[in-house]
Amino acid sequence: MLKIEHLTKHYGTFPALQDLSLEIPERQLHGFLGPNGAGKTTTMRILATLMTPTSGRASVDGVDVVRKPHEARKLIGYMPDFFGTYDNLTCREYLDFYGRCYRIGAKERQRMADQLLELIQLGDKRDTYVDSLSRGMKQRLCLARSLIHDPKLLILDEPASGMDPRARADMKGILRTLREMGKTVLISSHILPEMSELVDSLTILNRGRLVLSEDVKSLAARMSGNAPLEIRLAEGCGEEAVDAVVVCLKELPGVAEILQPEPYLLQVRLEGGDEQCMQMLREMTARGLPVTDFHRIPMNLEQVFMEVTQDE
Ligand SMILES: Nc1ncnc2c1ncn2[C@@H]1O[C@H](COP(=O)(O)OP(=O)(O)OP(=O)(O)O)[C@@H](O)[C@H]1O
Ligand SMILES: [Mg+2]
Repeated sequence: MLKIEHLTKHYGTFPALQDLSLEIPERQLHGFLGPNGAGKTTTMRILATLMTPTSGRASVDGVDVVRKPHEARKLIGYMPDFFGTYDNLTCREYLDFYGRCYRIGAKERQRMADQLLELIQLGDKRDTYVDSLSRGMKQRLCLARSLIHDPKLLILDEPASGMDPRARADMKGILRTLREMGKTVLISSHILPEMSELVDSLTILNRGRLVLSEDVKSLAARMSGNAPLEIRLAEGCGEEAVDAVVVCLKELPGVAEILQPEPYLLQVRLEGGDEQCMQMLREMTARGLPVTDFHRIPMNLEQVFMEVTQDE
């Protein structure tokens, strides 16, 4: 669906994006991550045909965004990181205006505007002036604007920045609905836990270069394969009980390291698989030790992010 090949962008002599290659299949939600200045907005602006690359190419559904920008724009909906709204338009007029820009007929524009206002849960604000909407509402309206011509690919540059937790949850719901509708979405964000729940795959850029691009499921499997086990003990069970757990663990095969980050929390690095894990649980239960919680620490995207964006 989206194919990026050796994309490079220099601002003057500064290389903001270097040799980025990436493919995103249809109906995927793809996260685009990286520290400030990594080159995310630069990439998105090139894809949205607002800027030409220094070299390399990108195509949407086989249409080259540099050579055929007019054709490509029909396939792409773009929500920029910063956007203006107009003072004297209502929500419906605002969407209608953008519909006209795409030369959509009057009837179809009205139908789309109403449908989109429902999708972004602003149906009751259709006749409200855009200017009087809250920031989160304006962001949702801007998302609707990017959908007015029913594009196949959505490019969303930090669509949820500055939204309250409920608004962000709503935004996640809207994005899932869009995926169900068959859209392909490239979305940038700095809110990592939310991204790891939402996207199917992700790419991390650092200083203009790709440092990781992977399916979230395979990344999670890779990360949890060697993730430590966390064992929580009953609060206030006493030092002796904690020592008894440590003694028990030390006797078991495969226990490589035991850490105690908190008085009643142990982290165990295990060399081995499920069999060792099961044996550990059996043994602790048989000895009547005060274990209240036993789990592998789930993938922490923040940790992955920190590792791959560490500067030499
Ligand atoms: N118009 C410009 N002229 C010169 N340099 C620019 C321009 N736009 C961006 N840059 C530089 O290119 C680099 C990449 O910027 P970009 O906006 O793509 O980063 P980003 O990943 O979107 O960052 P953020 O997370 O802060 O939004 C930065 O070092 C930035 O200073
Ligand atoms: Mg940016």
